[in-house]
Amino acid sequence: MKIVVLNGSPKGDDSVTIHSVKYLQKKFPAHEFNIIHIAKRIKGIERKRKTFDGIIEEIAAADGLLWAFPLYVLMVPARLKRFIELIFERNVEAAFSGKYTAAISTSIHFYDHIAHRYIQGICDDLDMKFVASFSADMMDLIDERERERLIQFCDYFLSTIQNRHPTARRYRPLKSPDFTYQPGEGSRSINAGDKKVLVVTDARPEDMNLGRMVDRFNTSFVSNIELVNLRDMKIISSCIGCLQCGFDNECVFGERDDFIDFYREKVLEADVLIFAGTMTDRHLSSLWKTYFDRSFLMGHRPTLIGTQLGVIISGPLSDNENLREFFEGYASWQQANLIGFVVDDIGDGEEIDTRLQELARQGIVFTNSGYVQPSTFLGVGAHKVFRDEVWGRLRTVFQADHRAYKKHGWYDFPMWDAPTHLMAHAGTVGMNIPMVRKQIQEMLKSGVSFRHRKIVEKA
Ligand SMILES: Cc1cc2nc3c(=O)[nH]c(=O)nc-3n(C[C@H](O)[C@H](O)[C@H](O)COP(=O)(O)O)c2cc1C
Repeated sequence: MKIVVLNGSPKGDDSVTIHSVKYLQKKFPAHEFNIIHIAKRIKGIERKRKTFDGIIEEIAAADGLLWAFPLYVLMVPARLKRFIELIFERNVEAAFSGKYTAAISTSIHFYDHIAHRYIQGICDDLDMKFVASFSADMMDLIDERERERLIQFCDYFLSTIQNRHPTARRYRPLKSPDFTYQPGEGSRSINAGDKKVLVVTDARPEDMNLGRMVDRFNTSFVSNIELVNLRDMKIISSCIGCLQCGFDNECVFGERDDFIDFYREKVLEADVLIFAGTMTDRHLSSLWKTYFDRSFLMGHRPTLIGTQLGVIISGPLSDNENLREFFEGYASWQQANLIGFVVDDIGDGEEIDTRLQELARQGIVFTNSGYVQPSTFLGVGAHKVFRDEVWGRLRTVFQADHRAYKKHGWYDFPMWDAPTHLMAHAGTVGMNIPMVRKQIQEMLKSGVSFRHRKIVEKA
């Protein structure tokens, strides 16, 4: 059988992910795995229609399609996102329809599920037969048991195609809201004082609802806030995964475009930061994804600590929990406070006005009080994954992260907390003595809240 593999890594042939596919090429010699370096070649693919059409013809002629990609900032890389956009913009969905497909990624398992759900959603939108996702750790290919698992996955994928087994759709099609937002008069009642409010958007003139929502948000304030449109900036490339920034947070693109100055001087300095975008397929645009990928220059550490983060979206977000979780995960990892979302899919202009005004008000109230909501699993998990990775195998390359983790006390491993460690040891010995165990177990119900009670009594 012929399988087309779309390589979403900007590193092309040097990609870690694609080596898993090359391994499969050797293990399944009866089948052809034709790798196309989509992400590395995206500029040419977009510019030259013939190149794009050639790729689409190959896909149309294949028995199956394998998406292969690395995780880039909780999602697929911007360049693969751009290719997906081209499929819809150029109306070539028919080449994908009814075709068996699967997805393979490598990562450090940081929000890998979001990228995989996104790809599965795209496959459903393209009316493909999605078989399975395979999310490997970036070093799994080195491990014999993991190679065995990879072979099992491929076997499953190929046999599903050969036997024409049925597959199940996971996502309903997205319905774009047919609604034109007419904003009311802004009240210009919110005084930002000395706080910096920044709205970053990628609105095009045709993104009417988005543009109007941004304007309406602006008119909530006594005086104008700062608006930056990513389309007005010179951004020469999305992230190419070279990892040069790991040592000192210096990006190889340096002064060659506007991104770094913008990110350091405006984004990192903002007290209230609003992301505003139009849903483009199941995410924001690839330009927005470029923003996120390029922000990786700051590595694996939170850099928006205490920032008030709001999200303004035009599009059917209510049907797209995955995109919502992308922002929730991003905010939690960044230790920012996610104020909320304002979305035009509620289809009620007055309600949108109210919510925009409220977003502005809350942003200023919370930034004045310094409120950041407690982390859920999304933030707690994010911290632990990155803490362990930066301490461990990423440290050599990501020296800047290591310095920051040390400086801010983010290496908060439990074994470095002496009282807890001692208690755990003593407790373990005690639990093995039946009399003591009985006493501890009797104390469990009220004992855990013993110190909490003291705090409440004293308050
Ligand atoms: C810009 C950038 C962003 C990344 N973001 C994530 C992430 O959000 N989650 C994750 O688990 N790994 C992330 N990684 C790690 C890569 O997914 C991982 O190293 C992968 O194996 C690289 O594959 P490749 O060599 O095929 O490009 C990121 C790496 C880069 C360069």
